[in-house]
Amino acid sequence: MKKRTIIYLLLAVTAIIVTARPALSQPEHDHHQRYYPESDPLVLAKLEQWQDLKFGLLMHWGTYSQWGIVESWSICPEDYPWCRRTTGETPDDYFAYKKAYENLISTFNPVDFDPSRWAKAAAGAGMKYVVFTTKHHDGFCMWDTRETDYKITGEACPFHLDERADVTMEIFKAFREQGLWTGAYFSKADWHSEYYWWPNFPPRDRNVNYDPEAYPGRWENFIRFTHNQIMELLTSYGQVDILWLDGGWVAKQSPEEIRGFYNRQTGDAATGFLKGTIVNQDIRMDELVKKARSKQPGLIVVDRAVPGPNQNYLTPENQVPDQAIPYPWESCIIAGGGWSWVAPEKARYKSTREVVHLLADIVSKGGNLLLNIAPGPHGEWHPQAYTLLEGVGQWMKVNAEAIYGTRAIAPYREGNICLTQKDDNIYAIYLAGADETRPPSVISLEKVQTTPLTKITMLGSTGTLKWKPEGNGISVKIPESIRNHPASQYAWVLKISN
Ligand code: GLC
Repeated sequence: MKKRTIIYLLLAVTAIIVTARPALSQPEHDHHQRYYPESDPLVLAKLEQWQDLKFGLLMHWGTYSQWGIVESWSICPEDYPWCRRTTGETPDDYFAYKKAYENLISTFNPVDFDPSRWAKAAAGAGMKYVVFTTKHHDGFCMWDTRETDYKITGEACPFHLDERADVTMEIFKAFREQGLWTGAYFSKADWHSEYYWWPNFPPRDRNVNYDPEAYPGRWENFIRFTHNQIMELLTSYGQVDILWLDGGWVAKQSPEEIRGFYNRQTGDAATGFLKGTIVNQDIRMDELVKKARSKQPGLIVVDRAVPGPNQNYLTPENQVPDQAIPYPWESCIIAGGGWSWVAPEKARYKSTREVVHLLADIVSKGGNLLLNIAPGPHGEWHPQAYTLLEGVGQWMKVNAEAIYGTRAIAPYREGNICLTQKDDNIYAIYLAGADETRPPSVISLEKVQTTPLTKITMLGSTGTLKWKPEGNGISVKIPESIRNHPASQYAWVLKISN
């Protein structure tokens, strides 16, 4: 073999090693991070596709939106800031407050509801799936369930007369029309159902308020109720791609984990509030998931924070992991205000730059970004939400190639540069500083491997860029012509083709 051929072979092997999918060690001391791989081939295939989508929309919407308060939590008798009763005439009287809260059904009339406008804005931003709160912990149903009248299509709700009253149906239809996948957020806990919070006892915390083992018939009713509701959503609402289950404390607990229903330990979150109140709340998830997939083959199920086979991906909340994670995951993050709608004067949204950087950071670590925007009492978004999505869309128009369908590649990030890979390409996403309006004259990458044949371009600009080896990496020259007319703002992408 000629010497040159040997060198090329060596370089090619190095490139393969460097671009191979990394096997990472799991972060320690975090049981939420335990991942149980799926075995159903249809689900595996779907998960792979889902990992290509990268960017989705989460919407929290319910009767609580009328008060501009935190979703559901103010009716939960726990002493946390997000449970505080800040609105209503009777914040000091729990039962009167709960009554007033539930009476919000009688004024919920979102006449400005226009899901196709939301869907177009989301699609324009490059979002590829939507996850919608069909039911939050308060138990109010945003679809036409047969299981309760506490629903948007119920007679007590003025919107029931509107032809668009089944908002879940309308939202799913509108987003599918724009080519997005659909996901149903569904809270397993239900603080309205008499099978979960039995009026015979006062509720004590977020958990079931009676002992399921002492009242098995009542608990059985709750299981039936929950299964029926979920099956309604998976039977009559078209193709559903993701079942996003919240209320992780509603789960089967092993006998060792249960400390007895009445053996409650108090404490704060840091000392394990939930641990102290662990109750076996087995809703027979395996059985439910089996039924669910008989209607929706390949359905992705996210039984959040319940380590086990029904959590097809992990969902860090309002945070981005420090490192790449070697299994499917998604950060759900608030775009502005809270998970639920807040009054306009309180609605501070992330900037386009922040969201572009978030997306790049998350994608470089192998995750998806699920950005939350909350509809208001009349069915409107804050205008800032549209502005934000438009800005992100402009960036995606130029740079989406570095996002969709990519996978993580070590070292994931070098300073302000996020790396992704797809086929034989590495993408280096340079995150601009707050005052940086044009790319620098030189971009250096310390650890990106190349071959003498490597070609480098900047997405959105024509022509190949000059580069040279530098240390273990390369330095790339950005010509003035590109610097003076960058194709996008906030972040610039080098495409390195090996
Ligand atoms: C938090 C909130 C819950 C919300 C969820 C979204 O857990 O407590 O209300 O639905 O985040 O991820």
